[in-house]
Amino acid sequence: MKKTDVHTPSAHVGRYAGKTFVLGVTGSIAAYKAVSLCRRLKAEGAQVHVVMTRAAERFVGPLTFEVISGNSVATGLFVSGNEMAHLNLAEIADAILVAPASAHCLGKMAHGLADDLLSTLVLAAECPLLLVPAMDGGMWDHPAVRENVRILRARGVCVMESDTGPLASGRIGKGRLPDEETILAAFSSALSPQKDFQGRRILVTAGPTQESLDPIRYISNRSTGKMGWAIAEVARDRGGDVVLIAGPTGLAPVTNVTWVPVVTSEEMHKAVTTRFADADILIMAAAVADFRPARKAPGKVAKGQGRFVLDLEPTPDILGDLAERRSGQIVVGFAAETGDLLARARRKLTGKNLDLIVANDVTEPGAGFGTETNRVTLLDRAGGCKALPLLSKRDVAHRILDAVRRLTTAGRPRP
Ligand code: CTP
Repeated sequence: MKKTDVHTPSAHVGRYAGKTFVLGVTGSIAAYKAVSLCRRLKAEGAQVHVVMTRAAERFVGPLTFEVISGNSVATGLFVSGNEMAHLNLAEIADAILVAPASAHCLGKMAHGLADDLLSTLVLAAECPLLLVPAMDGGMWDHPAVRENVRILRARGVCVMESDTGPLASGRIGKGRLPDEETILAAFSSALSPQKDFQGRRILVTAGPTQESLDPIRYISNRSTGKMGWAIAEVARDRGGDVVLIAGPTGLAPVTNVTWVPVVTSEEMHKAVTTRFADADILIMAAAVADFRPARKAPGKVAKGQGRFVLDLEPTPDILGDLAERRSGQIVVGFAAETGDLLARARRKLTGKNLDLIVANDVTEPGAGFGTETNRVTLLDRAGGCKALPLLSKRDVAHRILDAVRRLTTAGRPRP
């Protein structure tokens, strides 16, 4: 018999690599949506342990979660040989996500009741907890549920707002489980205990720009936008009010971040300039084209005969322009180089009047365009120079924001 190919999945390096999460599933028809959440967390590299309540098992079989998570599903508090499951899971969890969280579950957690595995381990755990309610509209509006949500939030537990839309009862109202992207964004934020950018307005640019030559062709560069995306996500997770101005990348917009798509350097210049006065921090991670065709042909440029000479004109330097007319904003630039890294970055730092520059050599392994990692050196205007090791782009984003944070508390006008 011919053997079929068996593919062993290679170790995935995702944003949650090395993390362990408990996914609590309670009794609501939205329990089926938790299967997809489990798959998404696993796909990002996390170990996921699913804990189901008895009522949840009426909606989805534990086997489904076992197959998706690759771990056995815990359902009971009194399982012979696994009596300490609630403590073990509480110990190893980096975070707990309860989705869907029924009205009953919110009530128990608000009042510290512990009559099953999930409610007991939530009491035992010290890690971040995100509750994602799902119930019928009338239940969500009931004063008892409102009060339970208030108690939990006052205690620092993240309880998401439920969504409005068609409910299982056939009614239309509030009570739906929020969509998957919104839950994952809230979970990412809940995982970040630091909220040191709360109330800060942060403008981030990302991706390449495209400069048209004719209606068919353009000049661009290899930027994929991943670094800027990571900065926008991390700034949001740390409490910032983020606007992401991005050239064409093909990446999905970042949830809970204001999204301003642009194409050309001129459009990016305009979009950044319009929002700069209201911003506290500008981080220019975009790879803005330095030149554009001096004339855009109205119709397709035909091949013709022989050589074709392109006349290029410089684009405005967005960063230099805005740093010139800032009024207290922190301004951060990037320098993607192929050699002479520190000297070139330092020239840009002073030449463009920046507070901080993030320098990277794109020829180094793991630090080029489109990679999940980056190796950067942070240089600031006070002469500080910090070379970071190879890190995930999210970790690099955290380190950039740490440096910005230090700048805002080191005597510079507060943004
Ligand atoms: N930048 C900008 N506007 C441009 C070009 C670049 O705001 N027209 C910003 C980039 O977003 C980056 C920083 O300036 O944050 C440095 O960009 P880089 O292309 O490395 O430097 P250039 O100023 O273009 O200088 P050079 O081409 O000589 O390297």
